[in-house]
Amino acid sequence: MQFIFNDSNAPLRPLRFIEGPLCRFDGLSLLVGYGDKKALTQRKLIVLLRKATQFAKQNEVRGMSLDYKELRALAPKALADTDLAQLCAEAFVMANYEPNTYKTAPKGGFRAIDTVAVHNITASIQKAFTKGQMVGEAVNATRELSNMPGGDMTPELLLEAAVKAAEGTSAKVKALGRAEMAQLGMGAILGVAKGSPEEPQLIVVEYWGAGRGKKPTVLIGKGVTFDTGGLQIKPGDHMYEMHMDMSGGAAVIQTAILAARLGLKKNVVAIVPAVENSPAQNAMRPGDILKSMSGKTIEILHTDAEGRVILADALTYAKKYNPASVIDVATLTGAALVALGTVASAIMCNKESWTAPLMKLAEESGDYMWPLPLWEEYDPMVKGTFGDVPNISTMGNSRHGGVIAGGKFLEVFAKDLQCPWVHIDMAPRMTSTPEDNLAKGAAGNPVRFLLKFVENGVK
Ligand code: BES
Ligand code: MN
Ligand code: ZN
Repeated sequence: MQFIFNDSNAPLRPLRFIEGPLCRFDGLSLLVGYGDKKALTQRKLIVLLRKATQFAKQNEVRGMSLDYKELRALAPKALADTDLAQLCAEAFVMANYEPNTYKTAPKGGFRAIDTVAVHNITASIQKAFTKGQMVGEAVNATRELSNMPGGDMTPELLLEAAVKAAEGTSAKVKALGRAEMAQLGMGAILGVAKGSPEEPQLIVVEYWGAGRGKKPTVLIGKGVTFDTGGLQIKPGDHMYEMHMDMSGGAAVIQTAILAARLGLKKNVVAIVPAVENSPAQNAMRPGDILKSMSGKTIEILHTDAEGRVILADALTYAKKYNPASVIDVATLTGAALVALGTVASAIMCNKESWTAPLMKLAEESGDYMWPLPLWEEYDPMVKGTFGDVPNISTMGNSRHGGVIAGGKFLEVFAKDLQCPWVHIDMAPRMTSTPEDNLAKGAAGNPVRFLLKFVENGVK
């Protein structure tokens, strides 16, 4: 999707916003019904712009035009011009994405909007549109990686994809393989990787936009390229979408590279432990005890709770960057879906004063999140019997408080960091829902949120 600005010669379908609930064509224009104007919140506006894009695309429209003044008149007043422009471009680009890579192209090509012309804008608004386009493209690149079938998306391929995405930017990509991880004592990552013939990779993307002297924001993403559950194998219908279990990893890789593309004067390091969780004769067993890089032992009580185990070593590895703050993002628990449905990710933080500002960033970004506690009353969840830390809760029924148990496990390893740490369980937002008005499959969360965090931080 290409944007052109203030060029009224472009013969495209104009978007016109009208009262009422539907999208339809009227002669030349695409009429977009916004319902009741008073009720048009930022949340609803995002969905409306996506709906218009999808409607146009489905009707084989190739180019749209937008009078920015009309959009401005429609949008909530509190929304700043540049924010409005950015989220509009994000919505158009995200709604234009289709997972077509593995499909045979029909005659005339796949349906897509090639051009959007925007009229009546100033230079700063144009800049915001272009930024929104870049953000949307990073979100779509994340979705593309997550959507790749598990048979193709291996740890090595995720590394290759990171290298390729960073080409032409000042972001640097490197990786540790099995031998280097063994040398560092990363028994947690290696333990999970044992059952798979795929070599695990610890992928690192560094972007030093503020110079080496300043502490970076470290983003850690779960990179399980396929999660069968391991020896405690998942029942068939639970395994289906587990090629997307590297969605957190794809999101942090793309965010670090996006920061480089935008030329942000910020330091960002993305760390992704990438492994496949497979059953095999030599796979880790329930009861096995892994020695993590931190020195703490992890008691494997369930081979399907593998995400937190690999993240433990990644959190310890992050220490070497002396981070200003650390955020981990993971499709960690089905329990997060039970708690929040498919609308919001769960967010936990070891600094309570950060919760409200993090929620605000989430709301502004469109990657919605809701907090859960890490109170010390939950400490018994992570009390090991034969090892230091169990990988599922040992407090009463192991199924109770499953999201918090994941957070409490990671907190044990995050404690050594001595900086603010945030855990995002993005399992609820791994895939889009029909209400999102995005293509089926990976949703590309939470790239928009992470970018806002990198840009603005939290005080
Ligand atoms: N990757 C899954 C969690 C998941 C489930 C993400 C559905 C997205 C959609 C994770 O590794 C897992 O299997 N978690 C277990 C944990 C349990 C064994 C404590 C789960 O949620 O059942
Ligand atoms: Mn699992
Ligand atoms: Zn998993």
